[in-house]
Amino acid sequence: MFENTTFCITTFGCQMNKHDAERLSGLMSSLGSVPVQTNAEADFSIFVTCCVREKADERLMGTVATMKNDPVRPGSPFGKRFVAIGGCIGQRDGQKLLDQLENADVVFGTHNMEALPHLLQEAIEGGMRRAELVDGRAEFHDDLPEDREHPWAAWLPITVGCNNFCTYCIVPYVRGRELSRPIEEIAQQAQAYVDAGVKEITLLGQNVNSYGRDLYGEPRFAQVLDVVSKTGVERIRFATSHPKDLTDEVIERFATLPNLMPALHLPAQSGSNRILKAMNRRYTVEHYRELIEKLRKVCPDIALSTDIIVGFPGETEEDFQATYDLVNEVGYNQVFTFIYSKREGTPAAEMQDDTPREVIQERFDRLVDLVQRNAERLNLEQNQAGVVLPVLVTGASKNDPSILAGKSPRNQTVHARVPQGMSASDFAGSIVDIRIDEAHTWYLWGTML
Ligand code: 5AD
Ligand code: SF4
Repeated sequence: MFENTTFCITTFGCQMNKHDAERLSGLMSSLGSVPVQTNAEADFSIFVTCCVREKADERLMGTVATMKNDPVRPGSPFGKRFVAIGGCIGQRDGQKLLDQLENADVVFGTHNMEALPHLLQEAIEGGMRRAELVDGRAEFHDDLPEDREHPWAAWLPITVGCNNFCTYCIVPYVRGRELSRPIEEIAQQAQAYVDAGVKEITLLGQNVNSYGRDLYGEPRFAQVLDVVSKTGVERIRFATSHPKDLTDEVIERFATLPNLMPALHLPAQSGSNRILKAMNRRYTVEHYRELIEKLRKVCPDIALSTDIIVGFPGETEEDFQATYDLVNEVGYNQVFTFIYSKREGTPAAEMQDDTPREVIQERFDRLVDLVQRNAERLNLEQNQAGVVLPVLVTGASKNDPSILAGKSPRNQTVHARVPQGMSASDFAGSIVDIRIDEAHTWYLWGTML
């Protein structure tokens, strides 16, 4: 049924979605379907979506609706393109999506990706339009084959779901309660990746720091770092950390594990204790600052990044100023800034929200401007000309195959020219030494040694 067919997967959202997309791609490939780059070439257009913010919703709806009149690909065995929607939006909206999007054929949830082939089959054979969701407790289904975007980089989910119920966030309702994967299984999976040539493993979870609580009655994320480090993988990263659960034990690993990269994403969300409380974040800005201090003590050159929400219901100028001050003081290499987006069903959606849109936009712009200036300054400070960095090459730069693109340990983008007669793709997946010559705001330029 799937032989000689093509599929295209589009993701809107976080790394967890990208990992899901790789597994869906593996699943479709194992059935004989061939991945293609664009929907125009595809018999199956598959969307993996995120519903954390309204923008992703809008982008999905817009993209699928405008595909309605696109011609089917020449040679299509069905005379029709099938559209399947999965991920968080699929899980949240189910049948409603089929009602709203007349060209959508199949909807599947976050816990039942393996349902996709039979749902597609029903659509092909019987013209059925169906949503299939599994409710309740999240379960680990990580036994699907996967088609990794880069053979040398792997995402490894260690928890799914979230128990935190930040008042603005829909994730706990959609992804379910937190569930940890046994540590032995994580170790095995990591070893299998290393044996297959993977250089970088990114451990994933909504809150990796609380890993293990459901299984062992206590958090054991530091132990996960230890077992993954022992595999000898070149680089370990992880996301996301909740500040309330980041322990001294984990912080110390930045000093002791040579393959744990000096980069940490630690979402602050706000710098105002009043707003943090209303968000149900369960830490104070003082505690957050203390964490940053400890991190810098054990790992002085650590690259820090964060998430900030601007315009949470009831945010005053004073609250915003506290956030601005925090961002300015910490000096992040990267800040993901979001305008608060009301999500139906969350407690914050019921809160009084009367700050005018323009005021929120103006605060947002001020913050983005600060972030840009700080990133530029930090990039220059942390990367003095002449320093030599091991760079994991990801491929060629967008416009020039003789210029490579890669990532430094701090996760900064590095570009350099490859030797004459060679192409950047020859180096993809290897770690090369690059002497930094210039630091720009969003990338470093250097010379291959
Ligand atoms: N509005 C705006 N931003 C949100 N985030 C989560 N929910 C919302 C929302 N309702 C942001 C948080 C989180 C990141 C993944 O998305 O900053 O850390
Ligand atoms: Fe959402 Fe908070 Fe859980 Fe992160 S920790 S997924 S922001 S509820």
